[in-house]
Amino acid sequence: MGFPKNFLWGGATAANQYEGGYLSGGKEPSTLDAITGGSHTEPRRITFKTKDGQLESVTREHRLPEGAVGYIDPDLYYPSHVATDFYHHYKEDIALFAEMGFKCFRLSINWSRICPKGTDEVNEEGLAFYDAVFDELKKHNIEPVVTINHFDIPMYLADNLDGWSNRKVIDYFLFFCETIFKRYKNKVKYWMTFNEINFLRSWTQIGIHDNSKQAKFQAAHHLFVASGKAVQLGHEINPEFQIGMMVAYIPSYPMSSRPEDVLEALQFNRDQEFYIDVQVKGYYPAHKLKEFERENIVIEKVPGDDEIIANGTVDYIGFSYYMSTVSSANPENVKFVGGNQMPAVKNPYLAESEWGWAVDPLGLRISLSKLYDRYHIPLFVVENGFGAVDVVEADGSINDDYRIDYFKKHVAAMKDAIDLDGVDLIGYTPWGCIDLVSAGTGEMKKRYGFIYVDLDDNGHGSLARSRKKSFSWYQEVIASNGEKI
Ligand code: BG6
Repeated sequence: MGFPKNFLWGGATAANQYEGGYLSGGKEPSTLDAITGGSHTEPRRITFKTKDGQLESVTREHRLPEGAVGYIDPDLYYPSHVATDFYHHYKEDIALFAEMGFKCFRLSINWSRICPKGTDEVNEEGLAFYDAVFDELKKHNIEPVVTINHFDIPMYLADNLDGWSNRKVIDYFLFFCETIFKRYKNKVKYWMTFNEINFLRSWTQIGIHDNSKQAKFQAAHHLFVASGKAVQLGHEINPEFQIGMMVAYIPSYPMSSRPEDVLEALQFNRDQEFYIDVQVKGYYPAHKLKEFERENIVIEKVPGDDEIIANGTVDYIGFSYYMSTVSSANPENVKFVGGNQMPAVKNPYLAESEWGWAVDPLGLRISLSKLYDRYHIPLFVVENGFGAVDVVEADGSINDDYRIDYFKKHVAAMKDAIDLDGVDLIGYTPWGCIDLVSAGTGEMKKRYGFIYVDLDDNGHGSLARSRKKSFSWYQEVIASNGEKI
């Protein structure tokens, strides 16, 4: 009973939000280096130069004009440039993770650190940086869990090839994969191809200028082919590799038992499960093909794509779980609250975080059960957490009981899913185990960590690390293998 003996307790981060060093050691900019900070009320902006040399900016849901190239304005603050500076603090941070008892640590590799332009030129200094990180993890018996690509693309590929709209990017991505698979073949076992593949839809994330539905699904097709090829290549390089996919899972409940609401919820849920279907079952589900047909969306494939997708299915499902939402056939009657990368519908039975994300631990058990019943392969909760404003007391302590409360209930939900539903859950990596920049708002003030980092929304602060109250709570959870929560 309880969590399996070798359960992977750990924490999760992403290069663009944590690593910093954006031009250090031969790295060149990625799209996320040209996106400003923001807040609840002020959305983040992409800064770019038009074909005629005008400097402009748009929020992320807007398309970029054709021919626009990313531009970094020296007078603006871009949170990814320093982020919370893992680049210079990795030894200290890994020591803190080890003190908490981490069995694993999820990080992403910055594509433009390895291949500065995203093409087939390799930056040895970048490779050496991750060698040092993996060696440090090994010293502390911490297993790396690597997201190959977390929400960014080398700016050169966005500027010159229109990112993932272009099939050529599949080859460049594969070159990147081959480089890191070969280099870290004996250092990394757990990989994931694309972070939250269901959220990849804009210039910042995949480098596409046109963000229409047609363009988005054509790019998604290229991502599927790239993932399928990467899985096969990884297994050839080291058959021991465990290569997963990663999706943002936000279960939706019907607003009522009215069949129309139930159908809405079904449609919402399968829009996310579509990405899992393709990468786990190896083919496009019938409902999506029908949707494409109805909406005149034509996916250009080349012969062999379907086979690549069929033969490149993943070893496990990694997913983020923060919140749930509600579906209603009458959206005019519902109240919207905040949500992960989208507005979500208010559930009258649930409270929300300050950012409006519904807190729903039982939803995690429901999601785990549903995903396991549906796919029968191991599951890995690779993100979960509570974004909150932390207060540093006069004595330096940070009493984040709200976070402990959130985690307690989610760990209990995972335990139930294992004990009562028989789910094969292999690990748990709470998001932003050390404070980092928020992806949604670009803020520092929305914190997730067990470890506090002294940095504010404008980039001011000493970057000093300190332990929050949740640090020792999580330490005990890991030490007791989830028994003592
Ligand atoms: C997930 C992403 O969507 O949620 C992370 O994979 C992100 O990159 C996390 O940081 C939390 O979202 P936010 O907007 O609070 O940072």
